[in-house]
Amino acid sequence: MKKILLIGKTGQIGRELIKDSASFDFEIISFNRNKLDVSNATQIKEKLEETKPDILINTSAYHVLPQCEENPINAMAINFIAVKNMAEICNDMNIKFVTYSTDYVFNGKKDSPYLENDETDPLQVYGLSKLAGEYAALNLNPNKTLIIRTNGLYGGKTGSSEKNGNFVLNIIKEADGKKEIEVSSEQIVSPTYAGDLSKATLKLLKQENETGVYHLVNEGLCSWSKFTEEIFKIAKIDTIVKPVVRNKIIGQLQRPKFTALSNTKAKSLGIELPSWQDGLKSYFNFLNNNEDES
Ligand SMILES: NC(=O)c1ccc[n+]([C@@H]2O[C@H](COP(=O)([O-])OP(=O)(O)OC[C@H]3O[C@@H](n4cnc5c(N)ncnc54)[C@H](OP(=O)(O)O)[C@@H]3O)[C@@H](O)[C@H]2O)c1
Repeated sequence: MKKILLIGKTGQIGRELIKDSASFDFEIISFNRNKLDVSNATQIKEKLEETKPDILINTSAYHVLPQCEENPINAMAINFIAVKNMAEICNDMNIKFVTYSTDYVFNGKKDSPYLENDETDPLQVYGLSKLAGEYAALNLNPNKTLIIRTNGLYGGKTGSSEKNGNFVLNIIKEADGKKEIEVSSEQIVSPTYAGDLSKATLKLLKQENETGVYHLVNEGLCSWSKFTEEIFKIAKIDTIVKPVVRNKIIGQLQRPKFTALSNTKAKSLGIELPSWQDGLKSYFNFLNNNEDES
């Protein structure tokens, strides 16, 4: 049985990986941030020496977009330098390194789902710092790095600690007591359920020789306003969704218009994710059950 050391046990994807690993025949261990901080390279090396995993999975990120613009040094420290250090240490210790990346490495000027080898061109510090992390990992652990780009991630009962929830939980809160809410119809995305991403990640890890960049998102694409309509339909919320165009720039921050991703490489290996509508249904099934979340 292969052993995984996971960074980010309290995160949206991290929690799902912990739940799913055994059914894919992986042992998984993880530490809280106070015991293993990605910005501390010595700590990473020590934990890898102590636990001797076959695979290191990094789910940590500095990913609140306005904060990345305000504190680019922090964004670079977590999304680039820490990833670079982990890749380097994994290369020295012959450990497979898996790290998550984002649709925001693209400029959004395409009008069909982005392929793994499409040209990158980030529009803001977040995308730039994640792309720098991708380059560093691929350069410093070239034979054993897997970059997984995903999009519009949601999962867990409380969502992301860093981002204070997720789109699904936050839009439900925002609609509370309102007749109508405005939601962007301009950005086109592939919203992805962390439960589906986790299983697809573990399937990919079963294919031991796979390395390089992979896209893993729920199938299909939609605008945030269409996604909201589907959320309200499932949750039986009768607030009206008013689609609005906000012209890409909110404050000083540029967001790419079209960032649906295509799972081309995963599909060629027979790894398929459910549609975004089915992903959303699975999330509501999870939210409505009484399963505890530690
Ligand atoms: N969320 C999205 O919409 C989205 C979209 C595209 C790509 N992604 C990428 O997908 C990945 C996972 O996202 P997610 O939504 O699952 O993230 P998340 O829910 O915010 O979880 C991040 C995890 O990393 C931990 N962490 C943060 N900083 C750390 C540090 N310095 N040292 C150690 N651990 C640290 C957090 O711990 P604490 O609980 O202690 O903070 C948390 O457990 C990220 O790489 C992100 O860039 C996300």
